[in-house]
Amino acid sequence: MASAAPTSEPASGALAARPKIAVVDLWKAFDGKEVLRGVDLDIVAGESFVVLGGSGAGKSVLLKHLIGLIHPDRGHVIVDGEDIVCADPSVCLRIRRKFGMSFQEGALFDSMNVFENIAFPLRRHTKMTEAEIADRVHECLELVNLDGVGRKATNELSGGMRRRVGFARAIALQPEILLFDEPNTGLDPLTSAVIDSVIVHMRESLPVTMVTITHDLRSAFRIADRIAMLREGRILAVATPDGFRQLPDPYIQGFLAGEPLEEEA
Ligand SMILES: Nc1ncnc2c1ncn2[C@@H]1O[C@H](COP(=O)(O)OP(=O)(O)OP(=O)(O)O)[C@@H](O)[C@H]1O
Ligand SMILES: [Mg+2]
Repeated sequence: MASAAPTSEPASGALAARPKIAVVDLWKAFDGKEVLRGVDLDIVAGESFVVLGGSGAGKSVLLKHLIGLIHPDRGHVIVDGEDIVCADPSVCLRIRRKFGMSFQEGALFDSMNVFENIAFPLRRHTKMTEAEIADRVHECLELVNLDGVGRKATNELSGGMRRRVGFARAIALQPEILLFDEPNTGLDPLTSAVIDSVIVHMRESLPVTMVTITHDLRSAFRIADRIAMLREGRILAVATPDGFRQLPDPYIQGFLAGEPLEEEA
């Protein structure tokens, strides 16, 4: 577990061992209801890390803390050694630029076609020329296996395609860390498998760290290098997919068997 304080650069020898993201004793309550109750996590650079949890377990709340969209009551989120919780707004913005986020349902702008959706962050945050933007959009679409759909209106897309356009937009600015909030929710099993294979492909093709939150067990096993189980506001366990199956914890065994003890709903 991270013992890192939100500090200056560690000695160079420690650099390789430093996690990309360290979540340290994170607490958050809404209206007196404790949602996060001391979450500790180390996420290693380059891994695909999945946080699994039942409905209402606090997965989205945790994800929003990683990117500084929610301020915790207590605790730290340290990204490359910098604490996003204590950072002043300009530093927070700089840290946030390391992230690309794919929202549930894709969260596309329906007034724009696919090309413009992906070009949007490039127009907003870079000085790229039109030709450079076109090249980059094309690259991103290729990566999510959607070559040639740039001119389509977003309402012409299937649910799975919308997600993939959302992925393409999330990687447009070449983020170091990609966050996925429930990438498979509402998709049929076949489309869900396609989405997972696109995530795996992105992971293999890009120098990124990925954090995915999901309640979809099958998806977690397909895309994760390591899986964490969030329950009652804490991390119950972290393991590789194979190790996760062997965990004796009755809640995890229930989850694996499709019979979760759903007291948090
Ligand atoms: N802004 C907020 N104000 C008040 N309560 C909130 C807020 N955001 C989240 N919550 C509460 O925190 C709890 C956890 O919510 P969260 O959205 O993180 O769950 P989740 O694990 O992502 O669930 P799901 O699988 O349904 O997406 C819920 O009880 C929710 O109502
Ligand atoms: Mg959620």
